[in-house]
Amino acid sequence: MTKSLEDYLEEIHVLILQKGRARVRDVALDLHVKMPSVVKAITELKKLELVNQEPYGDIELTAKGRKLAANVLGRHTLLKAFLVKLNVPEETADKDACLMEHILSATTLDRIRDFVEKPVATTTSKKKETK
Ligand code: FE2
Repeated sequence: MTKSLEDYLEEIHVLILQKGRARVRDVALDLHVKMPSVVKAITELKKLELVNQEPYGDIELTAKGRKLAANVLGRHTLLKAFLVKLNVPEETADKDACLMEHILSATTLDRIRDFVEKPVATTTSKKKETK
């Protein structure tokens, strides 16, 4: 799946979590794209059996779509936490996490997860303190 389709899927998932429904209009607003672009993406996501949408209805995730969307959002949350831990301002961390979430390997993400979940007092931070 392309990066941008993952972004659409993630956004639909976030809207359903936050507002209980995902409408084409809200997806367009949040992603700063035009409505026809959303409609085009929905058509692609439907072909991949990731979403369902009745004409003019809300966008719904299939079980497969929900699983994949939750995975993208999980990567986003992890990468944002990682960047915030590096003292990146929250807004920038959020934007950059959304770019990084599509390109990093599973191995790198696993190491980042270890780093984020690791207790604060580490050898590295001790080294820094003695400097
Ligand atoms: Fe994201």
